[in-house]
Amino acid sequence: MNQISPVTAGLFRIHKIISRGLSISIRKCDEYLSKQGIPSGEADGFSMYVSTLKWVTHSHHLSEDDIAFPYFKDYVDAPYVQLKADHVAMARILDSLDQCLPEISSGGVGKLKEVLYEFDKLWGPHIKIEEENFTSEKLQAVIEMKEQINLVDKLAEHSVKNSGPGPLTLPFLFYNIEGRDRDDFMKPIPWIVKKVLVPIIWRSQWKPMSPFFL
Ligand SMILES: [Fe+2]
Ligand SMILES: [Fe+2]
Repeated sequence: MNQISPVTAGLFRIHKIISRGLSISIRKCDEYLSKQGIPSGEADGFSMYVSTLKWVTHSHHLSEDDIAFPYFKDYVDAPYVQLKADHVAMARILDSLDQCLPEISSGGVGKLKEVLYEFDKLWGPHIKIEEENFTSEKLQAVIEMKEQINLVDKLAEHSVKNSGPGPLTLPFLFYNIEGRDRDDFMKPIPWIVKKVLVPIIWRSQWKPMSPFFL
């Protein structure tokens, strides 16, 4: 019973990744606004970073709506209707993010910052509800470990299908967390992906995002 729930651990990790992506994006907007523009060498990478943040968030919400929440419902009481409504509201914000990106080199950083703030305003309270409701203790008490591992596999499979281009999404996931979190996140990922595809074969594709990574 004192083992940590792998479902909760995965949930908290992805929240950490998205939270960092969001706060770096906001910080960078502030920096660009104070400099009156994005240095030309960073524009493509920044746009790619924010766009990948959108994909990762979208995919995380789909996995919760399609797999995690329908499963949790039988075991844990939580404000599912509100959580689902938050996802719908954030989906609208993610669309607006996409629309802002083509404009960022021509004075659109202020607008992007506004949209990121809107996202942040919903994101913080939203993950707080999830993290308070789907705690390790609660899940460990009601869901067998074997079932939890099954659920983690299903969630991983589902997110691969929905998270946009792997050459961008995977490095975004790897390099927005560090230390133990990164090691735990990478553990189930095939060797060829973490040692060859991401760091070598796909490197030139994601390299513009590297100034924003850990
Ligand atoms: Fe959520
Ligand atoms: Fe979540």
